[in-house]
Amino acid sequence: MALIGKDILYAKKLLEKGELVSIPTETVYGLAANALLPDAVVKIFEVKNRPYFDPLILHVSKKDDIERYGKNITTIIRKLIEHFWPGPLSIVVEKKNIIPDVVTSGLPTVAIRMPNHSLTLSLLDSVNFPLSAPSANVFGKISPTSPQHVEKQLGNKIKFILDGGKTLVGIESTIVRVNREKLIILREGAVSAEDLAEITGEMPEKIKTQKITASGQFEKHYATHTPLKIIRPDEDLNNYTNKHIVFLRFKEYLSSVATDFQRVLSFHADLHEAAKNLFQYLHELDEMNADLILAESVPDTGIGRAINDRLKKAAASH
Ligand code: TXA
Ligand code: MG
Repeated sequence: MALIGKDILYAKKLLEKGELVSIPTETVYGLAANALLPDAVVKIFEVKNRPYFDPLILHVSKKDDIERYGKNITTIIRKLIEHFWPGPLSIVVEKKNIIPDVVTSGLPTVAIRMPNHSLTLSLLDSVNFPLSAPSANVFGKISPTSPQHVEKQLGNKIKFILDGGKTLVGIESTIVRVNREKLIILREGAVSAEDLAEITGEMPEKIKTQKITASGQFEKHYATHTPLKIIRPDEDLNNYTNKHIVFLRFKEYLSSVATDFQRVLSFHADLHEAAKNLFQYLHELDEMNADLILAESVPDTGIGRAINDRLKKAAASH
């Protein structure tokens, strides 16, 4: 059992000793280590059972920290930071030598973000190192949006979960990099392509490559224990009659099924609300020990694309 509490000083002490602490952010809970201590960072990979080739995001508490840990910061990056930080945008830049190779899996670049959560920003301000933090789940499983989710997956492996309540955004940060003045999305997330285009003046590209540079690029991820399948809103459910099925719905209950076996992401059809509820509801449906989760996809625009991306990867895991 991990302790769940709001004691920043205790979190600071553990991190200074090279131990791991789970931290709240606006997106999902992170599993944090002192990013400048390779021995501490290695523990993240061990505890999550995460492959060492999957690099970590560096969390900082000041916009200027991009210069402290990154190099060749272009105008477009500065603009993005000015607009989106603190917030759910991770930016990949060339790294300075102070960042250990274990953080970046040997890449010459590092992903950096300033999370928008007051407790974690205070914690970061109280220490003199940045925090490496992937999502605080076992590798490949559903991301945690509450201290209880972290406790369930990692509670026997870490000492402390800093309690910042339920996360407000609920879906991971968008990861971008700039290539020849063009913005490229490496992982879709809470900041949509449209949001980015408003600042840069053109729609970003979405990377399509075999080489894995972001966990969003693994085809299988966000796996529930229960098999998950995506259905079209108009699909005939008689194809699935002899199973105990639970449902993830976008904006309304299915009238033919008891509501206990359903979760509705947003009764207002609000995609931000849907993102916020996504992982919580996947955790809840998974705990019903059904034979199958049937998930309806959401409109494929804005943050809806990030939601559909998570659902597709959850479905591909089975
Ligand atoms: O919202 C978030 O981003 C959350 C919270 C805790 O901040 N963190 C998160 O981390 O989702 P994680 O580890 O689950 O996903 C981060 C992804 C990794 O899969 C990694 O491949 C990518 O960021 N990444 C890190 N450094 C990179 C780099 N130098 N180049 C390309 N991708 C990178
Ligand atoms: Mg993750």
